[in-house]
Amino acid sequence: MIDIRTGAAAGADLLVIPVYGDRIIGNDVAGAPDLDAISDVLDRHDFTGKHGQTLFVQTPDGPTPEALLVGLGDEVDVEALRRAAGSAARAAKRYVSVATALHDIGIDGGAGAVALGTILGTYSFDEYKSEPKKSKIASLTLVGGDPSDDEIEDARTVAHGVVLARDLVNRPAADKPPAALADVASGLSTDVEVKVYDEQEIVEAGFGGLIAVNLGADHPARMVVMRYTPEGADKTVAFVGKGIVFDSGGLSIKPAAGMETMKTDMAGAAAVMGAVKAIAELGLKVNVIGITPLTENLPGGSALKPGDVMRAYNGKTIEVLNTDAEGRLVLADGLALASEDDPDLIVDIATLTGACKVALGPSIGGLFAFDDDAAEIVRTAATAAGEKMWRLPLEAEYKPLIESDIADMKNTAGRWGGAITAGLILSEFVGETPWVHLDVAGPARADKAEHYISKGGTGFGVRTLVEVARTLAGN
Ligand code: BES
Ligand code: MN
Ligand code: ZN
Repeated sequence: MIDIRTGAAAGADLLVIPVYGDRIIGNDVAGAPDLDAISDVLDRHDFTGKHGQTLFVQTPDGPTPEALLVGLGDEVDVEALRRAAGSAARAAKRYVSVATALHDIGIDGGAGAVALGTILGTYSFDEYKSEPKKSKIASLTLVGGDPSDDEIEDARTVAHGVVLARDLVNRPAADKPPAALADVASGLSTDVEVKVYDEQEIVEAGFGGLIAVNLGADHPARMVVMRYTPEGADKTVAFVGKGIVFDSGGLSIKPAAGMETMKTDMAGAAAVMGAVKAIAELGLKVNVIGITPLTENLPGGSALKPGDVMRAYNGKTIEVLNTDAEGRLVLADGLALASEDDPDLIVDIATLTGACKVALGPSIGGLFAFDDDAAEIVRTAATAAGEKMWRLPLEAEYKPLIESDIADMKNTAGRWGGAITAGLILSEFVGETPWVHLDVAGPARADKAEHYISKGGTGFGVRTLVEVARTLAGN
């Protein structure tokens, strides 16, 4: 865990210095090199101050032996600053004690942005490495300006929620059976009360979607309900996260290439757990219900078969024509359970469809809602958090596409508009409760490391959910 504090640069190994485009230093931090004097060095390395550029320079006369110039580009918002901090942290990973002036560029929330970008930028998943190549950064000293300790602490708490989600997503499926993830939920915080439905209670409760998907798996399923109920809260938000700990597709089996990354199909559940932990630690004054249906999707001898019909928790039946469209089956139970509490808002988050990834690419999540006000709350929260979400239509005219000959609906509707028809199926399980669906099949996982994003699980969604909770808490 990085120690983040405020103070002077002297004694640190490195000083991080913000540089705008055209090589303009971002503030008057003491000991910054004279960039005109070293213009030949900057030329040689093509360092102009473009966003994301980094360059180490020797500073024999400065407070630290070396400085790291970090490009900000011409226009910087809080997200650009988080990214710059992430790039700096990644570049500086061999230094133990780092001082930074990045936060002090006249942006509201600068200290929090640098703290968050640094923690996430130094993240690596090395539980399985014999020789971990961890970042060596042990301390970060914010130099100059007037950074707020509360803001730094808040950012640290949120970042740790993201780190938890990344760790869970990156963990191999063999080491995160549903019961193990339920244990993680149970240990999130003493302020979170957790109910775990075991296999028998799942049957008794009638979580038919979860039961159906679990049929082909040996590890039993779990339904987890986390409740954070602080004193003085008057609103309630429910988060429902898809928790498929491995998605083979079931009998409608995926090709090998499509299965390679499917340990990450519980990223929605991981985001809910990370967010609930952070919200409880922040002490936000809003009731939060976190629901994660957890199971593998495997083609065992008693597996769910195309043509089977399952009955969800709210009594509606779904004809399963493709067992690889399993997320909507478990979410049906999760959403119906959430709506029973009559919260002010339900947000579900799921690596639901390849179609959404095709539509929006790898780094943007799809946002679906009937209710414009609910959509706007979540969209605004995502923007504040620096997570890209784009609203797609929940087109009611497509409802006939999910009509089944023998059940209330079917679970697939063919190739076109697959992210939309998936959303329409989910909409059958929320009743009248305002609801937003987030399809994060793209951004939940990254193919390459970039700024504060690490390769593999990204923890996408944690920050948006925390911001949604802040909005409902009224701050
Ligand atoms: N978990 C997948 C969706 C997914 C695909 C997530 C790629 C991340 C990357 C989901 O369960 C799935 O298999 N969906 C199918 C639905 C189809 C059978 C209607 C899909 O997208 O192909
Ligand atoms: Mn699937
Ligand atoms: Zn899936």
